[in-house]
Amino acid sequence: MSEQEPPVESSLNEIERSDKEYVFGTWSYQNEVSPTQVVDADGVRFTTADGNEYIDFSSQLMCSNLGHSADAVVDAIAEQVRETAYVAPSYTTEARSELGKKLAEVTPGDLSKTFFSTSGTEAVEAAIKIARFYTGKQKIISRYRSYHGATYGSISVTGDPRRLMAEPGIPGTIKAPDPYAYGSTLDPMESVEYIDEMLELEGDTVAAILVEPIVGSNGILVPPEEYLPRLKEVAHKHDALLICDEVMAGFGRTGEWFGCDVFDVEPDIMTMAKGLTGAYQPLGATIVNSDIAAHFEENMFCHGHTYAGHPAAVAAGLATIETYQQENLIERASEIGEYLGDRIDDLAEKHPSVGDTRGVGLFRGIELSKHPEKRVPFGAREDKIDTGTTVVDEVSATAGEHGTYVANMINTLIIAPPLTITEDEIDEAIEAIDAGLDVSDRAMDA
Ligand SMILES: Cc1ncc(COP(=O)(O)O)c(C=O)c1O
Repeated sequence: MSEQEPPVESSLNEIERSDKEYVFGTWSYQNEVSPTQVVDADGVRFTTADGNEYIDFSSQLMCSNLGHSADAVVDAIAEQVRETAYVAPSYTTEARSELGKKLAEVTPGDLSKTFFSTSGTEAVEAAIKIARFYTGKQKIISRYRSYHGATYGSISVTGDPRRLMAEPGIPGTIKAPDPYAYGSTLDPMESVEYIDEMLELEGDTVAAILVEPIVGSNGILVPPEEYLPRLKEVAHKHDALLICDEVMAGFGRTGEWFGCDVFDVEPDIMTMAKGLTGAYQPLGATIVNSDIAAHFEENMFCHGHTYAGHPAAVAAGLATIETYQQENLIERASEIGEYLGDRIDDLAEKHPSVGDTRGVGLFRGIELSKHPEKRVPFGAREDKIDTGTTVVDEVSATAGEHGTYVANMINTLIIAPPLTITEDEIDEAIEAIDAGLDVSDRAMDA
């Protein structure tokens, strides 16, 4: 930074400055944190304290699936809190009972019994423990390009560089390669056979394979159609369970209820959070099939939280799912997702720095490249834990200057708007990203 440039603090208002002083910014070097105060949010837009308005093209952290003005959910929360703000998990409420039943309905096949928690990472922690209790085996195979949460079990099965500072993590975690045609030397289908061989070589010690059916924060990686069915086959051949982490891909994001529905695969255990309440309340859920549920009739379900099935959170979950159903938002995401895909194709045609585009429904990624024909990323995996900004950050920042918030992870813009977005709003956001991509075009290798 030159001497003339003001320090970050001077551009912050009083609330932002105080927040920076007293509250940790997540996953950040604290001297680089620059919190922006949001003062209003409505539909697919939000407004910051300086009066700027943004289209929320990433649903905040890929979680505000209903946008920011779902009155039915707000009312359900308010009503529940007025009636009964909290009961211990050994009691129940109408909403908890109904939401359990509803999840058995909307999740595929035989998935039928749910444990409620308050976040995605807790949903994954529960899945790991359940798989270990049920199979009596300890090891969990997950993949390198994955994120499963920040708590110790979940960060240990996470593959992305955020795990490195937490290592060695919990024992018994093994990483496998990913189905990533654009960025890996391994063909996606070869990567499943690699996992088959891993399971063979590990002997009968693997409890489960844990995957995001469509990888989210590590770059929106969509496997070939045959990948997930084959992965389930491989897992079951070796008496291991298949756990699908649907925390980001679930609840309409892909134009189906869940990412695994895109491939017609029913996992043994599924984890959910984010879109489960459209982020109106913190809620995680881990649902298991009836065999696993039955196991715990005679074996202790040795797990729980004070806020397991918190009344306000499950009331929000129930109202959110009812809203998806009443407003046909899942089907809508599939339809308008086609339009979004076409508009992203337009950007790819125009901008040589677009290396690859991937995705389904309203879950799309634009991966950048310094070279028009081969993959030369602007952002490396290490940048996730290194200091400073990348060209990909500058692309997002420029889109922001043009009125659109778009998140990025490592080398990929993560496009995941609320399921309620209109074509006009998509056009507006695409225009802003168009301006952002001029920045990466200019930064390409000569
Ligand atoms: C696939 C996946 N699993 C788990 C998590 C962790 O969820 P949370 O941040 O709610 O703990 C995330 C968060 O982004 C995620 O994307």
